[in-house]
Amino acid sequence: MKLTALSLAFGLLASASAAPTTSDEATIAATPTASADATAKPKPISSSTPAFNAVKGTGSWSAAVKEAKTLVSKLTLLEKTILATGVGWESGPCVGNILNIPSIKFPGLCLQDSPLGVRFGDRTSSFPAGINVAATFDKDLMYKQGVAMGEEFRAKGINVALGPMMNLMRAPAAGRAWEGGSGDPYLTSITAAATVKGIQSQGVIATAKHYILNEQETFRKTGSSNVDDRTFHEVYLPPFKACVDAGVGAVMCAYNFINGTQACADEYVINDVLKGELGFQGFVMTDWWANYEGIQTALAGTDMLMPGDAIFPNITTPGVPPFSFPGAGTFWYTNLEKLVNNGTIPAALVDDKATRILAAWLQLKQNKNFPAVNFDSWTPKNNKHVDAQADHDKLIRQVGAASTIVLRNTKSVLPISTKKGHYTLSLHGSDAGPGIHSPDFFPDKGGYDGTLAQGWGSGTAPFPYLVSPYEGISARARADHIRVTWDFDDYDLAGSQTLADASDMALVFVSANSGEEYITVDGNVGDRNNLTLWKNGDNLIQSVASKNRNTVVIVHAAGAVDMPWINNPNITAVIYALMPGQESGNALADVLFGAVNPSGRLPFTINADRTQYAADIEYKSSEPMPQVNYTEALLIDYRWNDAKNIEPVFAFGHGLSYTQFSYSNVKATASSSGKTATMSVDVSNSGKVAGAEVVQLYLGFPAAAGEPPKILRRFEKVNIKAGQRRTVKFTLNEEDFSIWQGGWKVVRGTFTAYVGASSRDIRGKSTFKI
Ligand SMILES: *[C@@H]1O[C@H](CO)[C@@H](O)[C@H](O)[C@H]1NC(C)=O
Ligand SMILES: *[C@@H]1O[C@H](CO)[C@@H](O)[C@H](O)[C@H]1NC(C)=O
Ligand SMILES: *[C@@H]1O[C@H](CO)[C@@H](O)[C@H](O)[C@H]1NC(C)=O
Ligand SMILES: *[C@@H]1O[C@H](CO)[C@@H](O)[C@H](O)[C@H]1NC(C)=O
Ligand SMILES: *[C@@H]1O[C@H](CO)[C@@H](O)[C@H](O)[C@H]1NC(C)=O
Ligand SMILES: *[C@@H]1O[C@H](CO)[C@@H](O)[C@H](O)[C@H]1NC(C)=O
Repeated sequence: MKLTALSLAFGLLASASAAPTTSDEATIAATPTASADATAKPKPISSSTPAFNAVKGTGSWSAAVKEAKTLVSKLTLLEKTILATGVGWESGPCVGNILNIPSIKFPGLCLQDSPLGVRFGDRTSSFPAGINVAATFDKDLMYKQGVAMGEEFRAKGINVALGPMMNLMRAPAAGRAWEGGSGDPYLTSITAAATVKGIQSQGVIATAKHYILNEQETFRKTGSSNVDDRTFHEVYLPPFKACVDAGVGAVMCAYNFINGTQACADEYVINDVLKGELGFQGFVMTDWWANYEGIQTALAGTDMLMPGDAIFPNITTPGVPPFSFPGAGTFWYTNLEKLVNNGTIPAALVDDKATRILAAWLQLKQNKNFPAVNFDSWTPKNNKHVDAQADHDKLIRQVGAASTIVLRNTKSVLPISTKKGHYTLSLHGSDAGPGIHSPDFFPDKGGYDGTLAQGWGSGTAPFPYLVSPYEGISARARADHIRVTWDFDDYDLAGSQTLADASDMALVFVSANSGEEYITVDGNVGDRNNLTLWKNGDNLIQSVASKNRNTVVIVHAAGAVDMPWINNPNITAVIYALMPGQESGNALADVLFGAVNPSGRLPFTINADRTQYAADIEYKSSEPMPQVNYTEALLIDYRWNDAKNIEPVFAFGHGLSYTQFSYSNVKATASSSGKTATMSVDVSNSGKVAGAEVVQLYLGFPAAAGEPPKILRRFEKVNIKAGQRRTVKFTLNEEDFSIWQGGWKVVRGTFTAYVGASSRDIRGKSTFKI
């Protein structure tokens, strides 16, 4: 009877159920194979019922959890395992699919990438990447982009959006760092939490990923990230905690191992920390196939296998299932049922998994008026082409401009103006143009020959269109009767020089790309092999700059790049635009021509060369389980520069405006209780145009605490009119004064509040006692 209901509801699943091989031999967990050996040291499984952190149903989750428990009480064990097991890769319209359960009117779940828009969507937008969202340092825009993305996911009937991404940019070459993160835990926490709130405001479940210590692509499925407990709690956990506090419905556990235990099978990080310490009440899904076995993954607290099937080892669904289940074979579903029946997994643990999944669905009110899935990732003819774009192009342009970072602007050469003698602009490099192929010509963006506006991998979305810098700039220049010439050939140095020689300003467009490990681009297996520019960028810059005293360099990149040309005085402006999405050229033109006063800030440090960074990618290892040791510990990004006295080329938090800001009256005072401190500073716009300053508060601990010299604890982007002054106030609390010592401990002593415009541009400081 259920057969009909299920296969009708998911019509296209039925055809994919083709050949579930029936094999009595098939087993689930821990089948030893060559690669399974890499999963070394599985924790011993206790035969007694292991304790686990069941969902508490407290706070804002109480009603949803209560209702979920009622629903779960009506389910058979097998139905609970259906909730916990995806149907298999490409066996449903979304990248992840949970079957429907008619008896409780549960319509199933659609899970879809990515952190910057609907992957495989059409009539959807390509938003600025997470690294750009961080670079805005603008909490309001972070939230608004989340809202707009949430609207698009909802319009397509997607229950669970697979973002935001919050792994930190520990190493500048890290392949996926552009999808989210930044070099700082606090900035990443604020960015991720605002994004979660925005997405979930539209009733779409957001996913905090990838939990945890997934900071490089090389060896991502075999390598072990090793970090001490203090660094784990103080640096890598805060973004996830911020998302839990923001009410995130889902968390995705990562591919990598942690201290030798696979992340999704790590009882300490999932059950103890996430569900215990942080009190997470939603559900944990695996990254795609990050279920290397079935038992410990279940016991550790992972609630849902995605996409459900087991690609490794090669297992088929055992026995004859009571109804056709499309997965090619899975560690859970009927196998989970067996494990419960023979006492390996407690029944209550499976109840808890089902409860958490339904609770998230109810918490976001998806049981009421949630649109049905109306697109298909694999079969375009099943697509109903629902228009989800709305007027999001405006916000995308705004976030693009707000994340465009002006690193240098000698003698105010920018904004471009005929009053400054800018009558002819020459554009150089393939990154200025639309390319020979559209960006989506390359599957999952695994290649590019025009402007770079998105990295590669699953964290991508189709471009409905892409405004190239050439289009954005030429449209604007046309209006001002400024002439535009171009040479998009990266290797035509002579031609570029001729053009540069004849122009009033030469704009050189360069790029450096990175992405996810399953695609290799120009020999880069996700992580970048080097920090130099791609496509002859350094040579093009030097050669243009040798002919033009007004050379402006525009960088589209996944992270920091080496700038061997930075001391050339002919390079009067440098702009970092990162990965700005579909409105790239318009957003850039807004800043270049001064329609928008720039206010983007660098969300990571740029050093002179790769040896000066806190950490690098572990590229080479002959170990079956390569070790990625986080030996820099707390000293990520600018904290390393501070501790080691390394002068950066451009500091974390740096970015210029077309106006100037001055700081005065920096004053920090502890409250009489000694538990909080207030910091206040006056910021004046001493220039001639309105602008936005990002006021940054870094905290210095008493030396005995063993903390880095200073840590970003607060920031605020404030709009200030020319000639006006604003007072900015921050309040710090006990959490801000705490360090991890097997538990959070408030440090007592004299603290220093540093206030400034970047980690290296401190404009005032004040001490106070806690
Ligand atoms: C990893 O091992 C280190 C060193 O023994 C320990 O401090 C830390 O707590 C462990 N971390 C995790 C997440 O297991
Ligand atoms: C998995 O099974 C399929 C079908 O039996 C077979 O073609 C394939 O070679 C197997 N893959 C591995 C890695 O053993
Ligand atoms: C329970 O069943 C699983 C899967 O069939 C098997 O691997 C495991 O050894 C069984 N355990 C016990 C205690 O029978
Ligand atoms: C760095 O990598 C890029 C992209 O693969 C390549 O174009 C460039 O030549 C490399 N640079 C060096 C110095 O090897
Ligand atoms: C700067 O440009 C001028 C004019 O083309 C040129 O003579 C000079 O050599 C350039 N300087 C550098 C350092 O490239
Ligand atoms: C990582 O740390 C372990 C334990 O200290 C050490 O044995 C190993 O050699 C280190 N590996 C690398 C690649 O640094």
